[in-house]
Amino acid sequence: MPLPKNNERNRMKILVTGASGLLGQELCPMLDSIGAQYWATNSKIFDITNAKMVNEIMDKVSLDFIIHLAAFTNVDQAEVNQEEAFRINHIGTKNMAKIAKKLDVPIIYISSASVFDGEKLTPYKTTDATNPINVYGKSKLMGEEEIRKITKKHYIIRTSSLYGKGGSNYVDAMLTYSMFNTSISVVDDQILCPTWTRDLSKEIINILSGGKEYGTYHICSSGRTSWSEFTKKIFDIKRRSVFVQPILKSDFPRPAKRPKFSVLDNGNILPSWEESLEKYLLQK
Ligand SMILES: NC(=O)c1ccc[n+]([C@@H]2O[C@H](COP(=O)([O-])OP(=O)(O)OC[C@H]3O[C@@H](n4cnc5c(N)ncnc54)[C@H](OP(=O)(O)O)[C@@H]3O)[C@@H](O)[C@H]2O)c1
Repeated sequence: MPLPKNNERNRMKILVTGASGLLGQELCPMLDSIGAQYWATNSKIFDITNAKMVNEIMDKVSLDFIIHLAAFTNVDQAEVNQEEAFRINHIGTKNMAKIAKKLDVPIIYISSASVFDGEKLTPYKTTDATNPINVYGKSKLMGEEEIRKITKKHYIIRTSSLYGKGGSNYVDAMLTYSMFNTSISVVDDQILCPTWTRDLSKEIINILSGGKEYGTYHICSSGRTSWSEFTKKIFDIKRRSVFVQPILKSDFPRPAKRPKFSVLDNGNILPSWEESLEKYLLQK
């Protein structure tokens, strides 16, 4: 996708960072459908941690919006490679916020339920205190803080456990697993709201259309589930005969701590996780 040029005056011009990722691959075709002109970037052509390069490129373009999806998203690897996680999620996001401010354009930043510690028993509101318990969550929160500090024209969207077409994700991994296995042990004491990238992308399009005030939002599926219940539902919908054995988080130690409860209060903006999962799986 070419760099947006100044001469196409009637189309919204958007820079998308992290366009090659799971969310970007669902969102970008939708930008086509609203007639936007967008520049879909990845780490090779637009490294958000390289402030000099980012500035040089941005001096040559005219933009109306920045959609900042690029991130270090491997939660366990973030513990091992902390410097890289902070460099991308904190410094890279700071660079993008500065560019948005310099060009005077709004920026959409996708953050995560991981900014919370998971100790609450009811869904997290946007006003609840943050307290991340792993490096990924800390680095995403530092990104949020830079955005708020640098530019008022921001939309910070916290979401949770994405799945969708075009990238590695839990739902597709389970379908592949079910082709070769008849049982699986899955954590049952970790509660979440798994979210379809298509549902989230529609809300991003809504923002581009002027549908929301600047600020922080929680956009995820409605309802809640555990990883084991979610996994059972995937197999049920696709009629796969795989026995799901519920286990405790403590039976499955991983490098990064996981919050026990990652449910966001979303004001029921999206359908239930069951409804969206069914739609996603039926079209596969
Ligand atoms: N996936 C989830 O469950 C989840 C949940 C909550 C929030 N989020 C947030 O949602 C956003 C999108 O997530 P995703 O799952 O689509 O991510 P993803 O599939 O892991 O893709 C990450 C994207 O970031 C790009 N990137 C990485 N380092 C970069 C750099 N230094 N400069 C420029 N681009 C770089 C990658 O480019 P390359 O292809 O070149 O590596 C890729 O396009 C992220 O901000 C993430 O934190 C995700």
